[in-house]
Amino acid sequence: MTTVLHIAASTRGTESATGLLAGELIERLTGPDTTVIERRLVDGGVPQLSVAATANLTTAPTDRAPASAEVLAAGDQLIAELDAADIVVIGAPIYNFGPPSALKAWADLVARAGVTFTYTETGPAGLLRDRPVYIVSASGGTPIGSEIDFGTTWLRMFLNFLGITNVTVIGADGLAMDPETGLAKARDQIALVNA
Ligand SMILES: Cc1cc2nc3c(=O)[nH]c(=O)nc-3n(C[C@H](O)[C@H](O)[C@H](O)COP(=O)(O)O)c2cc1C
Repeated sequence: MTTVLHIAASTRGTESATGLLAGELIERLTGPDTTVIERRLVDGGVPQLSVAATANLTTAPTDRAPASAEVLAAGDQLIAELDAADIVVIGAPIYNFGPPSALKAWADLVARAGVTFTYTETGPAGLLRDRPVYIVSASGGTPIGSEIDFGTTWLRMFLNFLGITNVTVIGADGLAMDPETGLAKARDQIALVNA
């Protein structure tokens, strides 16, 4: 059985370009034995890291301060589903030149010292096993992969930090100017993905 985790960070609901394209990619990745898990981050799907949660990040679950328990339990769940996934598709649109705030909140909960990364004598090392991750991004004008794209470049860096280096970016950029061309470019990239 293959588990595909779809993490969706767009706030644009049914208008979401990354939602549309991630759906098309997931259809391509889906076989008879595939389970798709949806993780929608917006509208309360992910809590913000709090003062109490930060203070208890490395505390054993049974010893966590009550005020931190809910946020850290949400983080535990996000880490567990990321860890269990064989393939991950992240809908990560460009908002204000970077990731949507919900995706940053997800990262703040998923980065856990001793669980998803550690520090060695030579620097940090990721603790998650590598697996294919597809970042599906979209922008109104910001060229994806350019020096003013702090969204996909940050997310790739973050995944690398956790040990995940098999990362492919699928980008529909310039949608505010020429949506047909932007979507077609992303669909060409999706067509190259081995099903
Ligand atoms: C809050 C917000 C901020 C945005 N900031 C940018 C930006 O910095 N650069 C850009 O090219 N487009 C920007 N856009 C446009 C989105 O990238 C574009 O609408 C894209 O389709 C978003 O993907 P989505 O439809 O999956 O949400 C922004 C849109 C929103 C809602």
